[in-house]
Amino acid sequence: MESHINQPMVARAFNSAAADYAHYAALQREVARRLDGHLAFTKISPKRIIDIGCGTGFLAACLRARFPKADLLALDIAPAMAAACRRQIGRRRLPWQPRRMVLCGDARRLPIQDASCDLVASNLTMQWLPDPAAMLREMRRVLAPDGLLLFSTFGRNTLCELRQTLAAIAPEHAGRVLPFPDVMSLGDLLSQQAVQLPVTDCDRLVLTYADTTALVRELKGMGASASAIRFRGGGLGGRKLLRQLEARYPKNSERRIAASFEVLYGQAWHKPAPAEQRAGVIPILPA
Ligand SMILES: C[S@@+](CC[C@H](N)C(=O)[O-])C[C@H]1O[C@@H](n2cnc3c(N)ncnc32)[C@H](O)[C@@H]1O
Repeated sequence: MESHINQPMVARAFNSAAADYAHYAALQREVARRLDGHLAFTKISPKRIIDIGCGTGFLAACLRARFPKADLLALDIAPAMAAACRRQIGRRRLPWQPRRMVLCGDARRLPIQDASCDLVASNLTMQWLPDPAAMLREMRRVLAPDGLLLFSTFGRNTLCELRQTLAAIAPEHAGRVLPFPDVMSLGDLLSQQAVQLPVTDCDRLVLTYADTTALVRELKGMGASASAIRFRGGGLGGRKLLRQLEARYPKNSERRIAASFEVLYGQAWHKPAPAEQRAGVIPILPA
């Protein structure tokens, strides 16, 4: 299926959102905390970690605290996000301290060597790429033997109330909220990589807002408006659509509106790819 995600637009949206991101991104901060929590159940002492799509550094900060001796590399496509993350995680002050490096780069072409990171992590970034499989392949490429790949992304039921309300206004508006994957297809994607013990699970977080304007403002503040929702174009001006949304969006008993975010988590361990396995085989010669 052709994706409607336009990466240059995504990068611009997150670049503009960087200054106020921390104010609007309570959800991302919470999911970073939960993703980091997955590491409490694994036996891993990484020497080198990469956080892909680091944003302002919520996950990078958790990883730095959990593995203070590891070198940490964080990367984001939006320069303003990378700059904010650099301020957040700091740099090493003394030569014997672990390295902290933040780069501006693309998850689809990581500027690092094959098999160079023991922990390859990413929080709520994969959903902004037109081809999540390409990002997973890159994550696997840079994963070192015995390393762990760990990420979160939004799932199919994310913003389901918004999608349903838009569809009730006019069926063609349902497409304004872009499709997110379900947990099964994410599991399939993960299993297609050279990994072992792949595990997926999911969480549902429901946030409430005073009205639809507050919801849209928050999505915009998270940088999501350019990619997750499209209010302009398609024959309806933004304001008219917002008025229709406000009239139709279901309200709870406190006259607030709810928005669901389904978060999918994926985790898997390195497994040698068939070519790597062949290269590693020591031929046993007959005596
Ligand atoms: C929702 S934010 C999440 C940021 C951070 N991981 C967090 O938990 O707050 C998604 C981030 O992915 C970045 N991003 C989007 N596409 C990317 C790509 N192709 N390569 C690297 N970063 C990308 C965006 O610039 C943005 O900072």
